[in-house]
Amino acid sequence: KKQQPDGGECPAPRPPAAAAPGGGPGQGGGLMKRRPLSLLPFLSLRDYVFCMATLLLFCTGSLFYQLNGGPPHFLLALRQCLGNSTYLDDHGPPPLKVLPFPSQVVYNRVGKCGSRTVVLLLRILSEKHGFNLVTSDIHNKTRLTKNEQMELIKNVSTSEQPYLFTRHVHFLNFSRFGGDQPVYINIIRDPVSRFLSNYFFRRFGDWRGEQNHLIRTPNMRQEERYL
Ligand SMILES: *[C@@H]1O[C@H](CO)[C@@H](O)[C@H](O)[C@H]1NC(C)=O
Ligand SMILES: *[C@@H]1O[C@H](CO)[C@@H](O)[C@H](O)[C@H]1NC(C)=O
Ligand SMILES: *[C@@H]1O[C@H](CO)[C@@H](O)[C@H](O)[C@H]1NC(C)=O
Ligand SMILES: *[C@@H]1O[C@H](CO)[C@@H](O)[C@H](O)[C@H]1NC(C)=O
Repeated sequence: KKQQPDGGECPAPRPPAAAAPGGGPGQGGGLMKRRPLSLLPFLSLRDYVFCMATLLLFCTGSLFYQLNGGPPHFLLALRQCLGNSTYLDDHGPPPLKVLPFPSQVVYNRVGKCGSRTVVLLLRILSEKHGFNLVTSDIHNKTRLTKNEQMELIKNVSTSEQPYLFTRHVHFLNFSRFGGDQPVYINIIRDPVSRFLSNYFFRRFGDWRGEQNHLIRTPNMRQEERYL
């Protein structure tokens, strides 16, 4: 770096604090006249030192702030001087983000009403639209005791929103246990078709490789089943 002959004048001059409020024109003039050694073409050494000093002040301030577990007294005093109003006081709480769809949905599947197909579609939709599909592997327990309802509601309510919970289960009244009542959806079917479907399913299964029908009709003998 080149040392200007009158560079010695550089550290000496007015203290930076005094120079700061002076602003642009005075400094610009000084820059033109003295041309002190510069690190950047548009920044004099004094400006550079001033910037670094400010940065250092902020960094140490921030460090103290964090080490002391809070703002220093003089900042608190300053705040009290300026008044206690916060952003919230002046502008009110930010408006709640209203989603264009419900964020808690329960689909309590009804047996033999195409729910398995619906869940397959929901799984595709959940990947496409990024909602949380919560399914259950329990298909043969639809009637829950009060405690079981409470447990399940607690479980479901803590799922990450937006969620869609689905299970073969009877209606759960979330507000009865202090939860947010979700939106319920369901699909039902013509009762006679449903009865026929149920009959054939219980007797023969549905050839999907699952043995659910054996669980549902534990007392039926094989020869009865396939007569
Ligand atoms: C700010 O609040 C403090 C206590 O919370 C109170 O002592 C002080 O007078 C308040 N200052 C102003 C300007 O309202
Ligand atoms: C549900 O099915 C499981 C076997 O998958 C069985 O152990 C259980 O007893 C059944 N529960 C009811 C209530 O039928
Ligand atoms: C609640 O969730 C936990 C873990 O996700 C699970 O182990 C438990 O069986 C669930 N309880 C009910 C009632 O579903
Ligand atoms: C759910 O429970 C609450 C409180 O017990 C009751 O007021 C409300 O009618 C119930 N809702 C349904 C659909 O049963």
